[in-house]
Amino acid sequence: MESLKYIFFFFLALFLVIQLKVPEKNQGDLDVVTSFVNNVDTPNNVKAMLTNACYDCHSNNTKYPWYADVAPISWYVAGHVEDGKKRLNFTEWQNYSKDEKQKKLEKISNLIKRRWMPMHEYLGQHPEALMSNDEIAIYSEWFSKVETQ
Ligand code: HEC
Repeated sequence: MESLKYIFFFFLALFLVIQLKVPEKNQGDLDVVTSFVNNVDTPNNVKAMLTNACYDCHSNNTKYPWYADVAPISWYVAGHVEDGKKRLNFTEWQNYSKDEKQKKLEKISNLIKRRWMPMHEYLGQHPEALMSNDEIAIYSEWFSKVETQ
């Protein structure tokens, strides 16, 4: 029993120590209107979908659930946000060249169609990001046809 107690306190101490490493939050830009919707004529249903399913990892403003403050989950979430933003950032859409924009639009359409985005881990925790087959078809089609400047 004694040794179990030590093991418990060891993990408790470890858990407390790792809380000291706090990743930086992705909340630089609290303006929730992304340059994507300013640049591309976006209907309301697509805007809502982007807000519910994509912006947490692909914009400068993540809405964090409470458990994202707890290490090591906080590190895991910060990693996804950092990787996601590096590949695609709707807040900074205006900085892509026309060519890049076109490629991103094709990728978005494809990844939605294949259900690769939003990430599966995310869907388990964010039911508002779930899409029916019909919704997937609508959004994927919209992104494949939309014009960008
Ligand atoms: C939980 C975080 C998360 C969410 C939510 C999310 N993504 Fe991603 N996304 C990522 C990460 C991480 C990558 C890069 C790694 C990879 O390709 O798997 C990525 C990559 C992408 C790429 C590839 C970009 C490129 O040029 O290589 C596209 C397109 C994309 N996501 C679209 C979306 C769309 C559209 C949504 C919403 C329907 C969405 N993502 C939701 C994390 C996320």
